Amino acid sequence: MKEWESFDRISKGKGVWLIDSKGDKMMDAVASMWCNVWGHSNPQIVKAIAKQSKKIQHSSLFNLTNEPVEKLADTLVKMSPKMHKVFYSDNGSSAMEIAIKMALQYWKNIGDKKKTEIATLENGYHGDTFGAMSVGYVPEFFGKFKKQLFTTVQFPVPNEYRVPKGHTFSDYQEHCLEKIESRFSKNDNIAAFVMESGAQMAGGVMIYPKGFQSKISRLCKKHDVLFVLDEIATGFGRLGSMVQYDEQKSIPDIVAYGKMLTGGYLTMAATLANKKIYDSFLGEFNDWVHLFHGHTYTGNPMAAAVANENLAMYKKNNLIRKIGKTASVFEEFYDEIYKIDVVGNIRHKGMLMGIELVKDRKRKIPIHPKKSINKIFFEEGKRHGIYLRTLGNIVMLVPPLAITDRELRLMLHKTIKTIKSARSEII
Ligand SMILES: Cc1ncc(COP(=O)(O)O)c(C=O)c1O
Repeated sequence: MKEWESFDRISKGKGVWLIDSKGDKMMDAVASMWCNVWGHSNPQIVKAIAKQSKKIQHSSLFNLTNEPVEKLADTLVKMSPKMHKVFYSDNGSSAMEIAIKMALQYWKNIGDKKKTEIATLENGYHGDTFGAMSVGYVPEFFGKFKKQLFTTVQFPVPNEYRVPKGHTFSDYQEHCLEKIESRFSKNDNIAAFVMESGAQMAGGVMIYPKGFQSKISRLCKKHDVLFVLDEIATGFGRLGSMVQYDEQKSIPDIVAYGKMLTGGYLTMAATLANKKIYDSFLGEFNDWVHLFHGHTYTGNPMAAAVANENLAMYKKNNLIRKIGKTASVFEEFYDEIYKIDVVGNIRHKGMLMGIELVKDRKRKIPIHPKKSINKIFFEEGKRHGIYLRTLGNIVMLVPPLAITDRELRLMLHKTIKTIKSARSEII
């Protein structure tokens, strides 16, 4: 960590801008870790925090409830086809831990002892706690803990830019699906298939080809495997739809939301389950079928009040429709980005863009500078007034969702300038 001697101190935020203690401004191209919706210091959200803070700031959900969480649960269930109940937590990793526990315990609750394994996709990411690391194994992040993680059954993800030799993109998709089907048919010990919905974000902005996710969901139904989706980073409009699994025509048994749920202002996540799952946890006290899980801040009323305001603003501002229009601004820049010789591939959907950098376009060799790419892009980005984060050799653009077309154009110009000026350092 020695390369980071000191950090910029952010003292203010206004709209899509972060302002440091020296008064320098940077555009937030990361949406403050992919969660910001309305930009910073939005008066309506700030007001909702202040209003709730005068009533009750925190009270437990053990034996109690509160008005904002009830209202929010109602809204979440209504907007999520086939979901029935909500379990709150305070971050995405926990929401995924809960999803995994629910899925594994479901089979125990109904008396099935065989179904104990979890199936996943290679390079998935579901958070940094041990269960989340186990189901979302990204080797660079989690390699040091491999021994302590529980094993999962992993399947490949089709990547149009890097189709394995001897395959077309289309037959490689079939190949991936066949692998899943063949494993499901051989042994019925798989409890659940866990995957990100719509795209893998941290795994390199891998946007699934059309139909891939729905075919997996159908295989799950056919082979009696629970289907668990992670919409923490990809739902709530990031990929263009409010509920990504609805667009993907792939109804899950359990789904997790987080990040943009509170507009990126307070920390809250939610795990939703369908009736079948929920009912399996209903029993008499001595049946021991209830879910033992709860965090100090589970169901925090301030976070829930902010989420309620946030969701009301989505509706009032017709945000999903607006995103549909703004997302096309990215397309205006494809040609200009591809003109930079280190750009190998652009992947874009909705309000997400990944720009893959290579040192050899023909052979698609990823750039691999001595210094961390992240550091280079942070410093170069800062010079151009933009806060950028890379994941490996991929520059990610994840703007606050309500960014205006003009602001997004400026953000893309700044990104292009940053890649160009970083070029000499990265190859
Ligand atoms: C798809 C996905 N799932 C889960 C998480 C974990 O969420 P959190 O960082 O809130 O624990 C992330 C975080 O980036 C994510 O991208």
